[in-house]
Amino acid sequence: MLKGRNILLGITGSIAAYKSAFLIRLLVKEGANVKVVMTESAIDFITPLTLATLSKNPVYSDFTEGKDTGKWNNHVELGLWADLMVFAPLSANTMAKMAEGICDNFMLATFLSARCPVYVAPAMDLDMFKHDTTQKNLKNIQDQGAVLIPPEDGELASGLSGVGRMAEPENIVQFIQHSLAKKLPLYGKKAMVTAGPTYEKIDPVRFIGNFSSGKMGFAIAEELAKQGANVTLIAGPSHEKESVSGIERIDVLSAQNMFDACHTHFSGMDIVVMSAAVADYSPKEIADKKLKKKDEDLSIPLKRTQDILKSLGEKKENQILVGFALETNDEKENALNKLKRKNLDFIVLNSLRDKGAGFAHDTNKVSIIDANNKSVDFELKSKAAVAKDIVEKIKTYF
Ligand code: CTP
Repeated sequence: MLKGRNILLGITGSIAAYKSAFLIRLLVKEGANVKVVMTESAIDFITPLTLATLSKNPVYSDFTEGKDTGKWNNHVELGLWADLMVFAPLSANTMAKMAEGICDNFMLATFLSARCPVYVAPAMDLDMFKHDTTQKNLKNIQDQGAVLIPPEDGELASGLSGVGRMAEPENIVQFIQHSLAKKLPLYGKKAMVTAGPTYEKIDPVRFIGNFSSGKMGFAIAEELAKQGANVTLIAGPSHEKESVSGIERIDVLSAQNMFDACHTHFSGMDIVVMSAAVADYSPKEIADKKLKKKDEDLSIPLKRTQDILKSLGEKKENQILVGFALETNDEKENALNKLKRKNLDFIVLNSLRDKGAGFAHDTNKVSIIDANNKSVDFELKSKAAVAKDIVEKIKTYF
């Protein structure tokens, strides 16, 4: 959620400023790019060197870098750099200035220049926090769009106890992540995706498999998670690794394992995308010892596996059910038949006749055909970009 985001952390004069060091570490661990802007009085509580070392970026507190250097810090550039601005700790004094638009230091000039969402984590004594003026200022900055990360109840630096402690760094990170997730288009939706091949065992060392890499399914799972869905990824044997949070991965081996996992998780899903290349046949018997070679040829009797997608199509209620079709001829006709037979909302067709489409490539060229027989042909593009097109189509059903 925070990976790659530019976060500008504003630190004001409060004993809670020491906790900002932990906050920076957590944000950096989440993959965020962190820059720090601090007031003169914050420097009394924590050194810029500590913050610069942890954030791996220069720390800003003044318009110039020393009166005799001729170098100045650009508050507008810094404000526009930020994807998020977080004031933690926010003192009563800086809160009051933010409310009134006072701009007498570098941090406040940066705040006024920023166009991004602003989060504030106040820190002050309980009576200061309760004071009518503070509450009025807080309401004022919230009306301007700032999001409050509420102070916590507990022991305060004054020796008193009550509401006013800055939220703990872990809670600040969680709060921001949750608040960002809520804005995503698929927030609250549950999705199940299948990916990769299945392996059907012949004996303890051999199997029947296929060349599916799992790349397409993983890309779809990641795109759904990026857009806020809670994703269950049921993966056959694949070297792919999910690189986005919000995905619960369940590893399976055979078509039967995948069938069982899909049926365990199907109910309650809003979106189901079946991109796995499931074996249609598996050996009738699995030898419990390694088969020894003989002079004559070998035939292995195969039995049909269950069609997972079809079985889900029969059960489906409100789910959006998406299937894949990999065809070599009469592509659209075959795909449309599959869509009807399996009771799908839409089907993603790739043809092996298209260069760069199908198994193991990093690219794919697909057509999306829906239950109303509306068909859209897409260009050859990366599997990540194809996943975006598929998720855009899914979003049209909500
Ligand atoms: N599928 C499935 N279970 C199977 C076989 C396929 O869930 N046992 C799903 C795939 O994940 C895919 C869709 O069904 O979403 C189409 O798979 P495909 O094998 O191309 O189609 P089939 O219906 O098996 O038809 P055919 O093999 O004859 O093309």
